[in-house]
Amino acid sequence: MKIALIGYGKMGKMLEAIAIERGHQIVSRIDVENPNDFYSPEFSSADIALEFTTPAAVEQNIRKAWAAGVKVVSGTTGWHENLPILQRELEENGKTLFWASNFSIGVNIFFEINRQLAKIMNAFPQYDVKIEETHHKQKKDAPSGTAITLADNILSELNGKHSWTLSPEQNDFSIEITAKREGEVAGIHSTIYDSPEDIITLTHNAKSRAGFALGAILAAEFLQDKTGFFTMQNLLKINN
Ligand SMILES: NC(=O)c1ccc[n+]([C@@H]2O[C@H](COP(=O)([O-])OP(=O)(O)OC[C@H]3O[C@@H](n4cnc5c(N)ncnc54)[C@H](O)[C@@H]3O)[C@@H](O)[C@H]2O)c1
Repeated sequence: MKIALIGYGKMGKMLEAIAIERGHQIVSRIDVENPNDFYSPEFSSADIALEFTTPAAVEQNIRKAWAAGVKVVSGTTGWHENLPILQRELEENGKTLFWASNFSIGVNIFFEINRQLAKIMNAFPQYDVKIEETHHKQKKDAPSGTAITLADNILSELNGKHSWTLSPEQNDFSIEITAKREGEVAGIHSTIYDSPEDIITLTHNAKSRAGFALGAILAAEFLQDKTGFFTMQNLLKINN
């Protein structure tokens, strides 16, 4: 498969290594210093573009790739409230996007267990739920896209909570999310249910960025013969 990289930072470099390992070819690498490469024949020769940049850049990058006839896998976080706008555009114009707040297979298994646990906890109101996440200091958004997905999945299953809130803000109807920024941490997420008697903790701890990059390449391989909008639930078929 011919792959274009949009964003050649930490994830872009990890994606390049894993794509080559799996026999794919990198035909274009776009970062802030060469935006005109979106209009190059090398970029438009790509089967898929892997977009890992910033919340400010992602939507225009996706539109530029679509204009060049290239399907997009994006993992950029911190903008997903605008995702429905892009979904409408792609449905109207026959374009393709695979977006995930977290491409790690382990995290997506964790998402499903988190959802099941929230369902169970409806019967046990003595437990109050909160979320904690820790990432490296360079991470631009807080809370992480993964923490927001965890919170949204709990909100869709658990009665009594109506929103999430970033610590230290608190109220009884919101799930409190604590976001810590430390050293080189690739990503640790915990869902915590606290009662007067005990604590139930579910944790996912990423050892490196390799799991995110592998998931994004698997998503690109999955997209080859498809058109439309896809997420990790389509790829992994967990609980289908
Ligand atoms: N979904 C996932 O599984 C997953 C995993 C890791 C990181 N991420 C997200 O991916 C994004 C990138 O993470 P990173 O660790 O590689 O960050 P990074 O800062 O190392 O790299 C981002 C790169 O994007 C470039 N960039 C900025 N604006 C651009 C533009 N307009 N066009 C092209 N390139 C541009 C920057 O110059 C930089 O090289 C973040 O939003 C992060 O949260 C998602």
